[in-house]
Amino acid sequence: MNANTNSASHSEPLGSASNLLSELPKLSDSADIVDPVDWEVRYQAGDTPWDEGYAAPALTEFLTRHPIHGEVLVPGSGPGHDVRALATHGAHVTGLDLSSSAIALARTYPPAGGEDYEQGNLFALPESWNGRFDWVFEHTCFCAIPPALRVEYAQAITGVLKPGGTFFAIFYLNPSAPSGPPHGVALDEITDLFKSDFELQGEWLPSEAFEGREGREICQLWRKGGLVNSTK
Ligand SMILES: C[S@@+](CC[C@H](N)C(=O)[O-])C[C@H]1O[C@@H](n2cnc3c(N)ncnc32)[C@H](O)[C@@H]1O
Repeated sequence: MNANTNSASHSEPLGSASNLLSELPKLSDSADIVDPVDWEVRYQAGDTPWDEGYAAPALTEFLTRHPIHGEVLVPGSGPGHDVRALATHGAHVTGLDLSSSAIALARTYPPAGGEDYEQGNLFALPESWNGRFDWVFEHTCFCAIPPALRVEYAQAITGVLKPGGTFFAIFYLNPSAPSGPPHGVALDEITDLFKSDFELQGEWLPSEAFEGREGREICQLWRKGGLVNSTK
């Protein structure tokens, strides 16, 4: 259709209306938000200071008391230490990472049990992942993404969990880096992000942390609303 033929009621030429529209601020378009970090380049260069060589101490500690079963997603799984810790305790775990080199690195480790690694973008997941997981385990993915994408992060986590599924997060509250990543987060912001679809089931300060992160992390367990999956 010729746009000019559709403007009979306009008192101004269509051209000026189009200009006006293009000047309006966009409300929200996450596709426009570019992550300044090229994660693939970081892995290719071996520039991965977050890789401590073993699973997050707070996760290890939790698993000794509360084994996690069922389908688990670990977004931003990097070298996969958390994935394998979860798999060792009997879960079927999917490690997701944007970087193909991170996925390749994770696959170099001996299998721990039921784990898979998939290269992909948390913000562009296949529809088949909707409602697929009993648990999502978060550790240093949320603090790595641009803060402007946090609403999309919460939407992605909500989308992949089953009703009654659990989001277990170790949030990095106040990293020492002057500018992220890692980006810190306030408790109020976390609550605002998750309170409409989740209920907070537990919250604690981990007694174990990687060196330099002591006292800077908080663990939270959020249960997604809907029918509770009592078998997991
Ligand atoms: C700081 S690293 C942490 C890796 C891992 N969680 C760990 O503690 O070793 C952040 C990870 O998130 C991945 N990542 C960043 N944005 C992502 C996205 N949109 N989707 C999936 N993974 C992403 C990066 O490639 C990187 O491996």
